[in-house]
Amino acid sequence: MKIDIVSVFPEYFEVLNLSLLGKAQTKGLVEVTAHNLRDWTHDVHHSVDDTPVGGGAGMVMKPEVWSECLDELLQLQPATIENTKSMENMEDSADSCDTCDSGNSATVAVPAESGNSEKTDTAQSSAGPVLIFPNPSAPLFTQQDATELSHADHLLFGCGRYEGYDARIPQYYRAQGIDVREYSIGDYVLNGGEVAVSVMLEAITRLLPGFMGNAESIVEESYTGENALLEHRQYTKPAEWRGIKVPDVLLSGNHAKVDRFRRDEALQKTDELRPDLIEALDCTKLDKADRKT
Ligand code: ADE
Repeated sequence: MKIDIVSVFPEYFEVLNLSLLGKAQTKGLVEVTAHNLRDWTHDVHHSVDDTPVGGGAGMVMKPEVWSECLDELLQLQPATIENTKSMENMEDSADSCDTCDSGNSATVAVPAESGNSEKTDTAQSSAGPVLIFPNPSAPLFTQQDATELSHADHLLFGCGRYEGYDARIPQYYRAQGIDVREYSIGDYVLNGGEVAVSVMLEAITRLLPGFMGNAESIVEESYTGENALLEHRQYTKPAEWRGIKVPDVLLSGNHAKVDRFRRDEALQKTDELRPDLIEALDCTKLDKADRKT
């Protein structure tokens, strides 16, 4: 898997050379490159942001710098978008675009759909690159997204800073036929996309075949599979530590009983801490004993 990351702080991603992701790079499972967005600027200050159109606090990342960078990394020619009726609530975005290069460029129609593509959990390798922007105002990134993206050949992450990036950037690349995703990693606001990209990257790459020493640890963990539950509690030796005993059933050697105990615990824990996950369960996939729990 090829992974490009664009950021104004590419050094932030030096940590990716450590630990399991570092090993995966050495093994050739992934090839990660962090690029500095400022390398695509042309002014003396290497500026990547400007004040928000319509007023307001903070700065917004400029589309021209991003497009030069993304065109190069995605190997696309610059184009101009033609407004269509399907964009009623995105008023005049192309007509009023004073930053677009309209000379020497192709014209493309914009599809009405502008959200993340429908969630699927395909086992096939995704055709073409996937462009991902972390964004606190986007759908939540889930284990299902991580699984889906782990089948892609090329991921390109764009880290926003300040008040975010110009909304025309994802719009434009969708119109070019690129699979563009915007994800939030949680209901809180960070200073930029770098931490969010690290989180998503780790969740995705650890699912790559050959990444983890023990593939089974992925199958059994929380948020995985059709009927995703929080994982049961884990214990190791000794059987008693500081007066606290490991549950007897786990020492019994009876695998059926151990499985039942763990499944019950997972159901109870999920019901207590994440009732939304219980609501989402497919009841037809529960067995009789599950229903008792
Ligand atoms: N950028 C700033 N906050 C973020 C969040 N919660 N998720 C993704 N990207 C972000």
